[in-house]
Amino acid sequence: MNYSKYFSADVPSFLRSPVREIFRKVDLSAICSFAGGYPAACTFPLADIPGLTERVLSKYGTKALQYGATQGVLELRELIASRYGVPVSQVQITTSSQQGIDVCARVFLDPGDVVLASNPIYLGALQSFKAYRAEVVDLNDFMAGEGVVSQTASASLRPESPCHFDRPEGVEKSPAIKFIYVIPDFNNPTGKTLTLAEREELVALARELDCLIVEDSPYRELRYSGEAVTSIRELAPERTLQLGSFSKIFAPGFRLGWIIGPEELLEQIYVCKQCLDLCPPVLDQYLAAEFLGSGLLDANLEKSVAEYRRRRDLMVSLLEKYMPSGVSWTYPEGGLFLWLTLPPAVDTVALYDKALAAGVAYVAGSFFYTDGSHRNTMRLNFSFVAEAKMEPGIKLLASLVREADFGAGR
Ligand SMILES: Cc1ncc(COP(=O)(O)O)c(C=O)c1O
Repeated sequence: MNYSKYFSADVPSFLRSPVREIFRKVDLSAICSFAGGYPAACTFPLADIPGLTERVLSKYGTKALQYGATQGVLELRELIASRYGVPVSQVQITTSSQQGIDVCARVFLDPGDVVLASNPIYLGALQSFKAYRAEVVDLNDFMAGEGVVSQTASASLRPESPCHFDRPEGVEKSPAIKFIYVIPDFNNPTGKTLTLAEREELVALARELDCLIVEDSPYRELRYSGEAVTSIRELAPERTLQLGSFSKIFAPGFRLGWIIGPEELLEQIYVCKQCLDLCPPVLDQYLAAEFLGSGLLDANLEKSVAEYRRRRDLMVSLLEKYMPSGVSWTYPEGGLFLWLTLPPAVDTVALYDKALAAGVAYVAGSFFYTDGSHRNTMRLNFSFVAEAKMEPGIKLLASLVREADFGAGR
Protein backbone atom coordinates (compact mmCIF):
# COMPACT_ATOMS: atom_id res chain seq x y z
CA MET A 1 0.00 0.00 0.00
CA ASN A 2 1.25 3.47 -0.78
CA TYR A 3 0.83 5.51 2.38
CA SER A 4 2.41 8.73 1.20
CA LYS A 5 -0.91 10.38 0.23
CA TYR A 6 -2.04 10.20 3.86
CA PHE A 7 0.73 12.36 5.23
CA SER A 8 0.18 16.05 5.90
CA ALA A 9 2.06 18.75 4.03
CA ASP A 10 4.20 19.24 7.16
CA VAL A 11 5.66 15.72 7.07
CA PRO A 12 8.33 16.27 4.37
CA SER A 13 9.72 19.04 6.61
CA PHE A 14 10.25 16.74 9.58
CA LEU A 15 13.95 16.33 10.28
CA ARG A 16 15.37 13.15 11.68
CA SER A 17 17.83 13.84 14.49
CA PRO A 18 21.22 12.31 13.68
CA VAL A 19 21.87 12.23 17.43
CA ARG A 20 18.78 10.10 18.07
CA GLU A 21 19.80 7.85 15.13
CA ILE A 22 23.09 7.23 16.91
CA PHE A 23 21.19 6.20 20.04
CA ARG A 24 19.09 3.80 18.00
CA LYS A 25 22.12 2.03 16.58
CA VAL A 26 24.44 1.95 19.56
CA ASP A 27 24.29 0.78 23.14
CA LEU A 28 25.77 3.91 24.68
CA SER A 29 26.86 2.20 27.86
CA ALA A 30 28.84 -0.39 25.86
CA ILE A 31 31.10 2.22 24.26
CA CYS A 32 32.69 5.46 25.33
CA SER A 33 29.99 7.91 24.36
CA PHE A 34 30.62 11.64 24.29
CA ALA A 35 27.62 11.89 21.97
CA GLY A 36 24.36 12.35 23.85
CA GLY A 37 23.36 15.12 26.20
CA TYR A 38 22.52 12.70 28.96
CA PRO A 39 23.04 13.79 32.56
CA ALA A 40 25.20 11.57 34.77
CA ALA A 41 22.99 8.88 36.28
CA CYS A 42 24.75 9.42 39.62
CA THR A 43 23.13 12.88 39.83
CA PHE A 44 19.64 11.38 39.88
CA PRO A 45 18.22 11.41 43.41
CA LEU A 46 17.39 7.72 43.31
CA ALA A 47 17.47 7.26 47.07
CA ASP A 48 15.05 10.16 47.61
CA ILE A 49 12.37 8.89 45.22
CA PRO A 50 10.64 6.34 47.54
CA GLY A 51 10.37 8.91 50.35
CA LEU A 52 9.18 11.63 47.97
CA THR A 53 6.56 9.29 46.51
CA GLU A 54 5.33 8.28 49.93
CA ARG A 55 5.00 11.93 51.01
CA VAL A 56 3.23 12.91 47.80
CA LEU A 57 0.75 10.05 48.03
CA SER A 58 -0.05 10.70 51.68
CA LYS A 59 -0.41 14.47 51.04
CA TYR A 60 -2.44 14.33 47.83
CA GLY A 61 -3.86 10.78 47.68
CA THR A 62 -5.73 10.03 44.47
CA LYS A 63 -5.38 13.67 43.35
CA ALA A 64 -1.80 12.78 42.43
CA LEU A 65 -3.12 10.20 39.96
CA GLN A 66 -5.96 12.29 38.55
CA TYR A 67 -5.95 14.65 35.55
CA GLY A 68 -4.66 18.06 36.58
CA ALA A 69 -4.83 21.69 35.44
CA THR A 70 -3.48 22.39 31.96
CA GLN A 71 -1.20 25.14 33.37
CA GLY A 72 0.31 22.58 35.74
CA VAL A 73 -0.31 21.89 39.41
CA LEU A 74 -0.47 25.06 41.46
CA GLU A 75 2.03 23.86 44.09
CA LEU A 76 4.77 23.47 41.48
CA ARG A 77 3.92 26.69 39.65
CA GLU A 78 4.09 28.60 42.92
CA LEU A 79 7.49 27.17 43.76
CA ILE A 80 8.87 28.05 40.33
CA ALA A 81 7.32 31.51 40.55
CA SER A 82 9.01 32.21 43.87
CA ARG A 83 12.37 30.72 42.74
CA TYR A 84 12.49 33.05 39.74
CA GLY A 85 10.70 36.03 41.29
CA VAL A 86 7.69 36.15 38.97
CA PRO A 87 3.93 36.00 39.59
CA VAL A 88 2.45 32.52 39.38
CA SER A 89 0.26 33.70 36.50
CA GLN A 90 3.46 33.89 34.42
CA VAL A 91 4.34 30.22 34.88
CA GLN A 92 3.16 27.41 32.63
CA ILE A 93 4.38 23.86 33.28
CA THR A 94 5.34 21.89 30.18
CA THR A 95 5.88 18.22 29.52
CA SER A 96 9.62 18.87 29.09
CA SER A 97 11.30 21.94 27.68
CA GLN A 98 11.36 20.28 24.26
CA GLN A 99 7.60 20.63 24.40
CA GLY A 100 8.15 24.25 25.45
CA ILE A 101 10.07 24.84 22.22
CA ASP A 102 7.53 22.98 20.14
CA VAL A 103 4.55 24.75 21.65
CA CYS A 104 6.19 28.13 20.97
CA ALA A 105 6.77 27.06 17.38
CA ARG A 106 3.19 25.88 17.08
CA VAL A 107 1.66 29.00 18.60
CA PHE A 108 3.84 31.60 16.85
CA LEU A 109 5.00 30.21 13.52
CA ASP A 110 3.25 29.95 10.18
CA PRO A 111 4.89 28.35 7.15
CA GLY A 112 7.47 30.77 5.80
CA ASP A 113 7.84 32.72 9.04
CA VAL A 114 11.35 33.39 10.20
CA VAL A 115 13.18 32.43 13.37
CA LEU A 116 16.51 34.13 13.94
CA ALA A 117 18.92 31.72 15.62
CA SER A 118 22.64 31.24 15.94
CA ASN A 119 24.31 28.63 13.81
CA PRO A 120 25.15 25.99 15.11
CA ILE A 121 21.72 25.41 16.63
CA TYR A 122 20.24 22.91 19.10
CA LEU A 123 18.82 20.13 16.91
CA GLY A 124 15.55 19.72 18.82
CA ALA A 125 14.74 23.37 18.20
CA LEU A 126 15.62 23.12 14.51
CA GLN A 127 13.37 20.06 14.25
CA SER A 128 10.43 21.94 15.76
CA PHE A 129 10.88 25.07 13.67
CA LYS A 130 11.21 23.04 10.48
CA ALA A 131 8.19 20.87 11.37
CA TYR A 132 6.06 24.03 11.21
CA ARG A 133 7.77 24.96 7.95
CA ALA A 134 9.45 28.03 9.35
CA GLU A 135 12.75 29.36 8.06
CA VAL A 136 15.74 29.55 10.35
CA VAL A 137 17.96 32.50 9.50
CA ASP A 138 21.43 32.81 10.98
CA LEU A 139 21.39 35.43 13.69
CA ASN A 140 25.10 36.22 13.47
CA ASP A 141 24.97 36.89 9.74
CA PHE A 142 21.86 38.94 10.29
CA MET A 143 23.44 41.00 13.04
CA ALA A 144 26.59 41.41 11.00
CA GLY A 145 24.40 43.20 8.49
CA GLU A 146 24.73 40.71 5.69
CA GLY A 147 21.07 41.03 4.81
CA VAL A 148 20.66 37.30 4.84
CA VAL A 149 17.48 35.65 3.80
CA SER A 150 17.27 32.21 2.29
CA GLN A 151 15.73 31.76 -1.13
CA THR A 152 13.07 29.48 0.24
CA ALA A 153 12.13 31.97 2.93
CA SER A 154 11.65 34.80 0.48
CA ALA A 155 9.74 32.53 -1.89
CA SER A 156 7.38 31.17 0.71
CA LEU A 157 6.62 34.30 2.73
CA ARG A 158 3.02 35.19 2.86
CA PRO A 159 2.31 38.12 0.55
CA GLU A 160 0.84 40.21 3.36
CA SER A 161 3.99 39.87 5.41
CA PRO A 162 6.95 40.65 3.19
CA CYS A 163 10.31 40.03 4.75
CA HIS A 164 13.11 42.50 4.31
CA PHE A 165 16.51 41.95 5.77
CA ASP A 166 18.15 45.11 4.55
CA ARG A 167 20.64 45.77 7.25
CA PRO A 168 22.54 47.85 8.12
CA GLU A 169 20.67 50.65 6.28
CA GLY A 170 17.79 50.12 8.66
CA VAL A 171 15.91 47.19 10.03
CA GLU A 172 12.53 46.76 8.44
CA LYS A 173 9.83 45.69 10.82
CA SER A 174 8.41 42.49 9.50
CA PRO A 175 5.71 40.31 10.95
CA ALA A 176 7.51 37.37 9.34
CA ILE A 177 10.32 37.47 11.91
CA LYS A 178 8.44 35.99 14.83
CA PHE A 179 11.16 35.36 17.34
CA ILE A 180 14.82 35.09 18.13
CA TYR A 181 15.71 31.68 19.54
CA VAL A 182 18.69 31.71 21.85
CA ILE A 183 20.45 29.54 24.45
CA PRO A 184 22.36 32.21 26.36
CA ASP A 185 23.82 29.99 29.08
CA PHE A 186 26.18 27.12 28.20
CA ASN A 187 24.87 26.66 24.70
CA ASN A 188 24.07 23.30 23.22
CA PRO A 189 26.11 22.48 21.14
CA THR A 190 28.94 25.02 21.65
CA GLY A 191 29.07 25.36 25.45
CA LYS A 192 29.36 29.15 25.07
CA THR A 193 27.69 31.74 27.28
CA LEU A 194 26.56 35.15 26.06
CA THR A 195 27.96 38.19 27.85
CA LEU A 196 25.63 40.82 29.26
CA ALA A 197 26.51 43.14 26.37
CA GLU A 198 25.61 40.42 23.84
CA ARG A 199 22.30 39.81 25.61
CA GLU A 200 21.55 43.53 25.61
CA GLU A 201 22.32 43.67 21.92
CA LEU A 202 19.89 40.83 21.26
CA VAL A 203 17.19 42.52 23.30
CA ALA A 204 17.76 45.77 21.40
CA LEU A 205 17.45 43.88 18.12
CA ALA A 206 14.22 42.19 19.25
CA ARG A 207 12.79 45.55 20.26
CA GLU A 208 13.85 47.07 16.96
CA LEU A 209 12.30 44.20 15.00
CA ASP A 210 9.37 44.06 17.41
CA CYS A 211 9.69 40.30 17.68
CA LEU A 212 9.66 37.88 20.62
CA ILE A 213 12.61 36.08 22.17
CA VAL A 214 12.55 32.40 23.09
CA GLU A 215 15.24 32.01 25.73
CA ASP A 216 15.97 28.29 26.00
CA SER A 217 17.58 27.83 29.37
CA PRO A 218 17.81 24.18 30.47
CA TYR A 219 21.40 24.50 31.73
CA ARG A 220 21.32 27.85 33.52
CA GLU A 221 21.54 26.32 36.99
CA LEU A 222 24.52 24.15 36.05
CA ARG A 223 27.28 26.75 36.44
CA TYR A 224 30.75 25.51 37.45
CA SER A 225 32.78 28.71 37.23
CA GLY A 226 32.41 32.41 36.50
CA GLU A 227 29.57 34.70 37.48
CA ALA A 228 25.89 34.31 36.55
CA VAL A 229 24.81 36.73 33.82
CA THR A 230 21.41 38.43 33.90
CA SER A 231 18.90 36.38 31.96
CA ILE A 232 17.28 37.71 28.81
CA ARG A 233 13.87 37.41 30.47
CA GLU A 234 15.05 39.81 33.16
CA LEU A 235 16.26 42.22 30.48
CA ALA A 236 13.11 42.05 28.36
CA PRO A 237 10.26 40.46 30.33
CA GLU A 238 7.67 41.97 27.98
CA ARG A 239 8.78 39.87 24.99
CA THR A 240 10.65 36.86 26.36
CA LEU A 241 9.48 33.31 26.83
CA GLN A 242 12.01 31.67 29.08
CA LEU A 243 12.06 27.89 28.93
CA GLY A 244 13.26 25.92 31.93
CA SER A 245 13.69 22.19 32.49
CA PHE A 246 13.82 19.68 35.32
CA SER A 247 15.78 17.30 33.09
CA LYS A 248 19.22 18.38 34.26
CA ILE A 249 18.37 19.39 37.82
CA PHE A 250 16.08 16.48 38.76
CA ALA A 251 15.87 13.72 36.11
CA PRO A 252 14.95 13.77 32.41
CA GLY A 253 12.72 10.71 32.81
CA PHE A 254 10.08 12.90 34.46
CA ARG A 255 9.75 14.98 31.26
CA LEU A 256 9.00 18.21 33.08
CA GLY A 257 9.79 21.80 32.18
CA TRP A 258 8.25 25.23 32.42
CA ILE A 259 7.76 28.46 30.53
CA ILE A 260 7.91 31.88 32.17
CA GLY A 261 6.43 34.63 30.05
CA PRO A 262 3.84 37.38 29.62
CA GLU A 263 0.34 36.24 30.58
CA GLU A 264 -1.21 37.07 27.20
CA LEU A 265 1.26 34.78 25.46
CA LEU A 266 0.89 32.02 28.04
CA GLU A 267 -2.88 32.14 27.57
CA GLN A 268 -2.51 30.94 23.96
CA ILE A 269 0.11 28.40 24.97
CA TYR A 270 -2.34 27.14 27.58
CA VAL A 271 -5.05 26.66 24.95
CA CYS A 272 -2.56 24.96 22.62
CA LYS A 273 -1.42 22.62 25.36
CA GLN A 274 -4.97 21.44 25.89
CA CYS A 275 -4.80 19.62 22.59
CA LEU A 276 -1.25 18.43 23.10
CA ASP A 277 -1.57 16.57 26.37
CA LEU A 278 -4.47 18.05 28.41
CA CYS A 279 -2.09 18.49 31.33
CA PRO A 280 1.52 17.75 32.25
CA PRO A 281 2.06 14.48 34.19
CA VAL A 282 0.49 15.07 37.60
CA LEU A 283 2.36 12.62 39.80
CA ASP A 284 5.67 13.81 38.34
CA GLN A 285 4.75 17.41 39.06
CA TYR A 286 3.93 16.66 42.69
CA LEU A 287 7.22 14.79 43.02
CA ALA A 288 9.07 17.76 41.52
CA ALA A 289 7.21 20.13 43.86
CA GLU A 290 8.12 18.02 46.88
CA PHE A 291 11.74 17.76 45.70
CA LEU A 292 12.00 21.49 45.12
CA GLY A 293 9.96 22.64 48.12
CA SER A 294 11.77 20.45 50.64
CA GLY A 295 15.19 21.85 49.68
CA LEU A 296 16.33 18.50 48.31
CA LEU A 297 16.66 19.93 44.81
CA ASP A 298 19.17 22.57 45.89
CA ALA A 299 21.16 20.09 47.95
CA ASN A 300 21.26 17.68 45.00
CA LEU A 301 22.12 20.48 42.58
CA GLU A 302 25.14 21.42 44.65
CA LYS A 303 26.41 17.85 44.38
CA SER A 304 25.67 17.69 40.64
CA VAL A 305 27.52 20.94 40.02
CA ALA A 306 30.59 19.63 41.89
CA GLU A 307 30.42 16.36 39.93
CA TYR A 308 30.11 18.08 36.54
CA ARG A 309 32.82 20.62 37.34
CA ARG A 310 35.19 17.73 37.98
CA ARG A 311 34.18 16.01 34.75
CA ARG A 312 34.54 19.19 32.71
CA ASP A 313 37.99 19.84 34.14
CA LEU A 314 39.00 16.24 33.55
CA MET A 315 37.89 16.37 29.93
CA VAL A 316 39.69 19.64 29.31
CA SER A 317 42.91 18.31 30.87
CA LEU A 318 42.68 15.16 28.75
CA LEU A 319 42.13 17.17 25.59
CA GLU A 320 45.20 19.22 26.47
CA LYS A 321 47.17 16.04 27.06
CA TYR A 322 46.17 14.03 24.00
CA MET A 323 44.82 16.20 21.19
CA PRO A 324 47.28 17.01 18.41
CA SER A 325 48.16 20.59 17.56
CA GLY A 326 45.61 22.33 15.39
CA VAL A 327 42.70 21.22 17.58
CA SER A 328 40.94 23.80 19.74
CA TRP A 329 37.93 23.67 22.05
CA THR A 330 35.60 25.89 24.00
CA TYR A 331 35.87 26.08 27.77
CA PRO A 332 32.28 26.00 29.04
CA GLU A 333 31.49 27.67 32.36
CA GLY A 334 28.61 25.25 32.80
CA GLY A 335 26.24 22.91 30.99
CA LEU A 336 27.16 19.57 29.50
CA PHE A 337 29.11 20.19 26.29
CA LEU A 338 32.24 21.49 24.76
CA TRP A 339 32.91 22.12 21.11
CA LEU A 340 35.97 21.07 19.18
CA THR A 341 37.37 22.61 16.03
CA LEU A 342 39.76 20.28 14.23
CA PRO A 343 42.22 20.87 11.40
CA PRO A 344 40.28 21.69 8.20
CA ALA A 345 41.20 18.34 6.62
CA VAL A 346 39.45 16.29 9.31
CA ASP A 347 35.91 15.41 8.28
CA THR A 348 34.05 14.35 11.44
CA VAL A 349 31.10 12.97 9.46
CA ALA A 350 33.39 10.69 7.46
CA LEU A 351 35.32 9.71 10.61
CA TYR A 352 32.24 8.82 12.59
CA ASP A 353 31.73 5.14 11.64
CA LYS A 354 35.38 4.39 12.20
CA ALA A 355 35.23 6.03 15.62
CA LEU A 356 32.11 4.08 16.54
CA ALA A 357 33.69 0.79 15.45
CA ALA A 358 36.72 1.64 17.58
CA GLY A 359 34.44 2.30 20.57
CA VAL A 360 34.06 6.06 20.87
CA ALA A 361 31.12 8.28 19.89
CA TYR A 362 30.72 12.01 19.38
CA VAL A 363 28.31 14.17 17.42
CA ALA A 364 29.62 15.67 14.18
CA GLY A 365 29.38 19.45 14.47
CA SER A 366 27.97 19.88 10.97
CA PHE A 367 24.75 18.21 12.12
CA PHE A 368 24.02 21.38 14.10
CA TYR A 369 24.51 23.66 11.11
CA THR A 370 21.44 24.37 9.04
CA ASP A 371 23.57 24.09 5.87
CA GLY A 372 25.61 21.05 7.00
CA SER A 373 28.85 23.03 6.92
CA HIS A 374 31.75 22.99 9.46
CA ARG A 375 32.55 19.33 8.94
CA ASN A 376 35.77 19.76 10.92
CA THR A 377 33.89 20.34 14.20
CA MET A 378 32.41 18.05 16.84
CA ARG A 379 30.38 18.28 20.03
CA LEU A 380 31.62 16.41 23.06
CA ASN A 381 29.49 15.73 26.11
CA PHE A 382 31.34 15.38 29.40
CA SER A 383 28.47 14.46 31.75
CA PHE A 384 27.53 10.95 30.71
CA VAL A 385 30.71 8.91 30.39
CA ALA A 386 31.97 7.26 33.56
CA GLU A 387 35.09 9.10 34.68
CA ALA A 388 37.16 5.93 34.36
CA LYS A 389 36.27 5.71 30.65
CA MET A 390 37.07 9.31 29.88
CA GLU A 391 40.84 8.98 29.53
CA PRO A 392 40.83 5.95 27.20
CA GLY A 393 37.98 7.60 25.25
CA ILE A 394 39.75 10.91 24.65
CA LYS A 395 43.05 9.14 23.94
CA LEU A 396 41.33 7.02 21.30
CA LEU A 397 39.53 9.99 19.79
CA ALA A 398 42.77 11.97 19.65
CA SER A 399 44.52 9.12 17.83
CA LEU A 400 41.67 8.93 15.29
CA VAL A 401 41.85 12.68 14.72
CA ARG A 402 45.62 12.57 14.28
CA GLU A 403 45.31 9.67 11.84
CA ALA A 404 42.57 11.42 9.84
CA ASP A 405 44.65 14.59 9.66
CA PHE A 406 47.77 12.73 8.44
CA GLY A 407 45.64 10.57 6.15
CA ALA A 408 44.45 13.76 4.52
CA GLY A 409 48.07 14.49 3.64
CA ARG A 410 49.18 16.96 6.24
C1 LIG B 1 19.11 23.54 24.54
C2 LIG B 1 18.14 22.48 24.89
N1 LIG B 1 16.83 22.77 24.95
C3 LIG B 1 15.92 21.86 25.28
C4 LIG B 1 16.27 20.57 25.58
C5 LIG B 1 15.21 19.58 25.92
O1 LIG B 1 15.24 19.26 27.26
P1 LIG B 1 14.02 18.50 27.95
O2 LIG B 1 14.60 17.23 28.48
O3 LIG B 1 13.53 19.40 29.02
O4 LIG B 1 12.99 18.27 26.91
C6 LIG B 1 17.62 20.19 25.51
C7 LIG B 1 18.02 18.81 25.79
O5 LIG B 1 19.12 18.41 25.77
C8 LIG B 1 18.58 21.18 25.17
O6 LIG B 1 19.89 20.91 25.09
